[in-house]
Amino acid sequence: MDADRYDNMAELLDEQVGYYRAVAAEYEDHLLPFPGGAELSAAIEEFRPTGSVLELACGPGTWTPQLIRHATDVTAVDASPEMLAIASARLGEEGVRFMAADLFQWQPDRRYDVVFFGFWLSHVPPDHFESFWSLVANCLKPDGRVLFVDDWYRTAAELIEGERSSTIRRRLADGTAYRIVKVPHRPEDLERALDRIGWRIEVHSTAGPFFWGAGSRASN
Ligand SMILES: C[S@@+](CC[C@H](N)C(=O)[O-])C[C@H]1O[C@@H](n2cnc3c(N)ncnc32)[C@H](O)[C@@H]1O
Repeated sequence: MDADRYDNMAELLDEQVGYYRAVAAEYEDHLLPFPGGAELSAAIEEFRPTGSVLELACGPGTWTPQLIRHATDVTAVDASPEMLAIASARLGEEGVRFMAADLFQWQPDRRYDVVFFGFWLSHVPPDHFESFWSLVANCLKPDGRVLFVDDWYRTAAELIEGERSSTIRRRLADGTAYRIVKVPHRPEDLERALDRIGWRIEVHSTAGPFFWGAGSRASN
């Protein structure tokens, strides 16, 4: 069954948060063994996320140091207190405002020059895609910019509901299983989907299963 038609979407999204809370301590052991990661860092450098930056689903602060290097201030939001604890232990609080929040409920208290999200868009269910991008729009100043990095990789073992479903199963190192959302966006389709909802974003592939996108509202 597709996540769109999941009987209880809230339950699936809670399970997804549960997975990330539980995996936080071993997150680095699950990194994808593919080339292309360096191209994502290069894309961030080229984009130059200057000004006030909002990072959605920051996790353990994988990309936050790179954002801090360019930004005047960074607000980093994630639903997992365990991820946020790792991120703040790594980075300290200086220059970063950490916030624990569920992005499917949260609304910003101010607007930003840049919104960034790493390996998050693929965890947004298809029927939340448009509302998620409305949230991004609400987070941005009128001339604000958006940058994201992500991947489309799913293993055959993860596809418990078949290739066409966006619900997959992930396991912790101890074998505990969780259902999460993983949408295998393809860059050209994603670019078209974003264009249809009013964004001008170029989406680029890298050497491996990674991709990145940068742009702004089409009306800018
Ligand atoms: C794949 S990790 C990406 C972490 C980091 N951005 C990176 O690139 O390594 C997805 C992140 O989304 C967070 N997350 C999952 N569901 C969420 C939700 N509903 N609201 C906010 N964050 C959520 C998880 O806690 C996790 O840190």
